[in-house]
Amino acid sequence: MRTYLVTGGAGFIGSNYIHYMFQKYGDGIRIINVDKLTYAGNLENLKDIEDRENYTFIRADICDSEKIMKIFEENDIDRVVHFAAESHVDRSIRNPEVFVKTNVLGTLVMLNAARAAWEQPDGSYLPDKKFLHVSTDEVYGSLEEDGGYFYETTPYAPHSPYSASKASSDMLVKAYMDTYRFPANITNCSNNYGPYQFPEKLIPLIINNALQGKKLPVYGDGKNVRDWLYVMDHAKGIDMVQEKGRLFETYNIGGHNERQNIQIIHIILDTLREMLSPEDPRRELVTEDLITYVEDRKGHDRRYAIAPDKIRAEVGWYPETSFEEGIRLTIQWFFEHEDWMRNVTSGDYQKYYEEMYRGK
Ligand code: NAD
Ligand code: DAU
Repeated sequence: MRTYLVTGGAGFIGSNYIHYMFQKYGDGIRIINVDKLTYAGNLENLKDIEDRENYTFIRADICDSEKIMKIFEENDIDRVVHFAAESHVDRSIRNPEVFVKTNVLGTLVMLNAARAAWEQPDGSYLPDKKFLHVSTDEVYGSLEEDGGYFYETTPYAPHSPYSASKASSDMLVKAYMDTYRFPANITNCSNNYGPYQFPEKLIPLIINNALQGKKLPVYGDGKNVRDWLYVMDHAKGIDMVQEKGRLFETYNIGGHNERQNIQIIHIILDTLREMLSPEDPRRELVTEDLITYVEDRKGHDRRYAIAPDKIRAEVGWYPETSFEEGIRLTIQWFFEHEDWMRNVTSGDYQKYYEEMYRGK
């Protein structure tokens, strides 16, 4: 039975990936989830699978080399899927240091631990061991409004401390592949949305605020473009790259689903009104009057757009969920998980929100 070590599995994409993998492989795999449980990590996301015999949670910081090495010594790990990271651009602009620690040094620790466990004295690796580094399209920088796409060959040009830290971690993975023939892949994905996404990110923040009749903060002119992908399509892409992709290769994951932020907000408002019953008092609150243009994000990248040609041609992956379907699934999930949203937005979140949006 194959054993997966998933880092950051209590976060948004990691928890969706763990759900996806158990749905797909059932008892045929074992998953060890290593997560520090920062503000973004939430074991509630995994409540329905936590009792499985083939699932183990270990609370650990990926920067803690000793602890990570020990996990590899005590378990015969076949696959590493490395999600753990600080992931929010606005936080990175305020406090870059933790981004460098976790995203760069933490990735180095993961690489060293996997290499120590898998490399044999002659420099080859134990058979069928693989490391997948989950990264972002933001490493490629920003595109012009009127054209162009990110390809795997696009030069790196990160702008925010977050994307610079992810670019650095990608470079480390590339260096380990080139120097030690370390068996890895890198995936660079566009903006995800879906269940369990923390409401610091645009889509869950807008859904949550709109349902409470709170202002909907739009940075700058609202015309920045992101390429949105439903999170379960990303989870599937990661698994397909790890099983069908060529080792040492990078694969871009995205869906040709480019939208301006202001378009996203209008779609959310329309869909909320459609899905809320006429008797629901929240329906009255959901209006365009809530849209509030605020000061722009510093260094705000204008447009991201992935060309997913390589992953489609080599691996057979393509995005299966249309945005219209994905946003309905997401809103339905939030309707059915009001407690989840209440829990994650109580306490520290209020403080975060006030500080981040004060004066905006
Ligand atoms: P998230 O912030 O929701 O989750 C991050 C998880 O990592 C949390 O569970 C957190 O507790 C854990 N973590 C943070 N620091 C840690 C540490 N030092 N040690 C152990 N665990 C730690 O992030 P996400 O949106 O799920 O993103 C996951 C990965 O995917 C990240 O590497 C991110 O760069 C990448 N990515 C995200 C998107 C997106 O749209 N969200 C798109 C492309 C790539
Ligand atoms: O492209 C992949 C990246 O997508 C991931 O690597 C990051 O981890 C993830 O956070 C995401 O980064 P973005 O900065 O694109 O996502 P965010 O949801 O923070 O913002 C999306 C867009 O919406 C961006 O142009 C900024 C804008 N925005 C965001 C917030 C939170 C607003 O206009 N208002 C807001 O309140």
